[in-house]
Amino acid sequence: MEKPIEPKPYGPITSAPELSGLRAPSKVTVPGIRARKGTGQKVLALTAYDYPTARLVDEAGFDLLLVGDSMANVVLGHATTLKISLEQIISATRSVKRAVDRPLVVSDMPFGSYHTGVRDTLENAVRLVREGGAQAVKLEGGRSRADLVAELTRADVPVMGHIGLLPQSYNSSGGYKIQGKTADSARRLLDDARALEDAGAFAVVLEGVPGPVAAGITARISIPTIGIGAGTGCDGQILVFHDVVGYTTGPAPKFVRRYADVADVIRKALKELASDIRGGTFPGPDESYEFSGELPEEWSV
Ligand code: KIV
Repeated sequence: MEKPIEPKPYGPITSAPELSGLRAPSKVTVPGIRARKGTGQKVLALTAYDYPTARLVDEAGFDLLLVGDSMANVVLGHATTLKISLEQIISATRSVKRAVDRPLVVSDMPFGSYHTGVRDTLENAVRLVREGGAQAVKLEGGRSRADLVAELTRADVPVMGHIGLLPQSYNSSGGYKIQGKTADSARRLLDDARALEDAGAFAVVLEGVPGPVAAGITARISIPTIGIGAGTGCDGQILVFHDVVGYTTGPAPKFVRRYADVADVIRKALKELASDIRGGTFPGPDESYEFSGELPEEWSV
């Protein structure tokens, strides 16, 4: 097994270097995430698709920021992740990269960007790195994608795998299906995880997998597992930012814990603003520019 590289010591969060005058002494790297395995130090991961969110997630000390194709659902209002384009992910990645100082930025390869052959996959992944600034990419699938993962890794594009419930397989699976519910299915998931590990993936997302199965896989592979709806036995956790802060319109999936109700805060703020505008109390004198000269004569009534 490859000798793990010591994780760098994490310095103060200085995601506003222009304010602090400092830059973070170290940034999270792909080898740094890989080296978390077995340390007991959980990988903290969250999605982000824009500049202000990425700033806040960085400030909160998260290690890995995923520009996920879940943007299709929570930002663009699509029913599935299938409609988002490579260009949309590149554009979001650029905003996120401009914001962050410390976390590793990983971009999702959207549906269609790695389904038409090795050459297309390499070209699209390289675009995410060169145009978006991604430090790694994520793609869905286990054994069936291992060859692609190996090609990308050989091309110096680090890959995070993703197995279990695969949103991009919505049509072929007939919906969102929890995986690993039987011993056979659990074995198949472990085979998938091992195939990704052997192909060079530096970490693997386990989505929608029963906790004991995810913990069993975590104990049997040498790369970190990052769970979403996969219990507490993974090496890290990832969630969709909008779910965590309550900035969504529908009900959240079972595995989400809501830490805020941002939608309600915004709703109340907007109602208040509307009422102030209607009542003529906004803008007030402090929100207006002073004028000390004389208005044109013909304006007087
Ligand atoms: O796009 C996304 O948000 C994801 C997470 C669910 C891991 O792939």
